[in-house]
Amino acid sequence: PVPVIIDCDPGHDDALALMLAAGDPAVDLLAITTVAGNQTLEKTTLNARRVCTVAGITGVPVAAGCARPLVQPLRVGGDVHGESGLDGPRFPEPAVEAVPEHAVDLMHRVLSAHPEPVTLVPTGPLTNVALLLTRHPDSARHIREIVLMGGSIGLGNTTPAAEFNIHVDPEAADIVFGSGLPVTMCGLDVTHQALATAEVLARLERLDTRLARLCVELMTYFGSAYRRLWGFAAPPLHDPVAVARVIDPDIVRCVEANVAVELHGRYTRGATVVDVHKYLDRPVNALVAVDLDVERFWDRVIAAVETLGRR
Ligand code: BDR
Ligand code: CA
Repeated sequence: PVPVIIDCDPGHDDALALMLAAGDPAVDLLAITTVAGNQTLEKTTLNARRVCTVAGITGVPVAAGCARPLVQPLRVGGDVHGESGLDGPRFPEPAVEAVPEHAVDLMHRVLSAHPEPVTLVPTGPLTNVALLLTRHPDSARHIREIVLMGGSIGLGNTTPAAEFNIHVDPEAADIVFGSGLPVTMCGLDVTHQALATAEVLARLERLDTRLARLCVELMTYFGSAYRRLWGFAAPPLHDPVAVARVIDPDIVRCVEANVAVELHGRYTRGATVVDVHKYLDRPVNALVAVDLDVERFWDRVIAAVETLGRR
């Protein structure tokens, strides 16, 4: 299995990303770190502990990281994920604790101790990852690649041009895309293909486990937010797409491109400028996701929920 650290801001789709990583045999989940984004750090950390508790993810350290972006104030995604960041289901008191170590230091320690290079999967703003690369530059040689959810070739979902994770901390994203490490960007172009349709929810229902029912509740809340805010018929499960790319690269087709993060645009700050057609004389610094094998994606997600639910 691929050794992975997930850096997340749960978040409904982050929750499913954690379950996919923990429940799929192709992934060895080494650590879970949290960042402010969909909600405050306090809430995203509580939510990570809640998800670990209900999904039986034990023995994986959870550590809280940065409470605010590198430069600008935090802007949370409460309109999409609710006041708690994980509105919808009722969660039991979490039995999984966070470790008393900063996420960035935990990442550094886990990376240095692991015998082989590790894949980072950021599914929130890139603050922790940027800080890791800045504070512990020797981490770079322990990172195999960074497969992130964020950005967009086309439209944004927070401003006309910017996707949420990049928009929350553009300076951090700029550091990550400029790091020289192999980066795969799973942006809205591909995550909007991962729709939790009624058929998907029915498949989850049929698993007939408490965890599967909780996932349906999460998706139902997420779906109502997406219907209200964007008129979507079904909600896009963004973050698990990045995990799926790690599990089986064939699930997510990518193209090579230069990706620049716009930091100064009057209307476009936080946009990822993806040079698909190579207009600019800039080197390729990323693989950019363009297509999702929808069927195989859902097969893996549902299988992971099934595995965790039966434990
Ligand atoms: C991203 O922002 C958050 O709402 C989701 O968790 C996802 O990581 C989508 O733009
Ligand atoms: Ca997220």
